[in-house]
Amino acid sequence: MEHTASSTVRIEAWSDTDLELLRRANAPELMAHLGGPESEEQLLARHERYVALSADRTGRGRMFRIALADRDEAVGTIGFWERTWQGREVYETGWAVLPGHQGLGIATAATKAVAGLARAEHKHRRLHAYPSVDNGASNAVCRKAGFTLIGTCEFEYPPGHALLTNDWRLDLAPDGAS
Ligand SMILES: CC(C)(COP(=O)(O)OP(=O)(O)OC[C@H]1O[C@@H](n2cnc3c(N)ncnc32)[C@H](O)[C@@H]1OP(=O)(O)O)[C@@H](O)C(=O)NCCC(=O)NCCS
Repeated sequence: MEHTASSTVRIEAWSDTDLELLRRANAPELMAHLGGPESEEQLLARHERYVALSADRTGRGRMFRIALADRDEAVGTIGFWERTWQGREVYETGWAVLPGHQGLGIATAATKAVAGLARAEHKHRRLHAYPSVDNGASNAVCRKAGFTLIGTCEFEYPPGHALLTNDWRLDLAPDGAS
């Protein structure tokens, strides 16, 4: 399955063949704000979760590889999934773009495409993103994709590690109502 994100980027359903992309996205410089690289065992488990989510048709979420529109080349990962946030069910999104392709608007275009697909589920009214407060690029993506900064919050991620993040929110209701 394929969705146009912009003239230069496509998002495509995560598949069995995307484990190598996940390994490339596990590079230390890409995982610096996410608690550092995961083990091969954690990556395999994550890949299985992504494949399963990708096949889900109940609105639990979706995972995608980000590909360049004019080439068959995967350059990043993105998706949305459900979480309970302050007593309400919402969608959360997160992303990564490989070095060599950053700073070109790829994550922003892919995020806008994912927001459109999350909206089309007609299931939850809010899409959140929680980048670390010192993740300049990721916070810029949220702002450029139209999210509103709500405040800061603390997560334990990965387990045993306190992470101070921003809470960005995009209203998915057609009229922006909450
Ligand atoms: C965050 C990430 C996905 C951005 O991907 P990208 O395709 O380069 O993003 P875009 O090009 O759409 O936008 C990046 C914006 O951040 C800005 N930016 C980059 N570094 C920045 C910094 N240190 N401080 C502030 N802004 C910064 C860029 O200037 C650009 O904004 P502009 O277009 O207004 O100039 C990429 O850096 C990445 O994969 N990081 C590691 C993984 C990660 O942290 N994921 C976030 C989990 S929530």
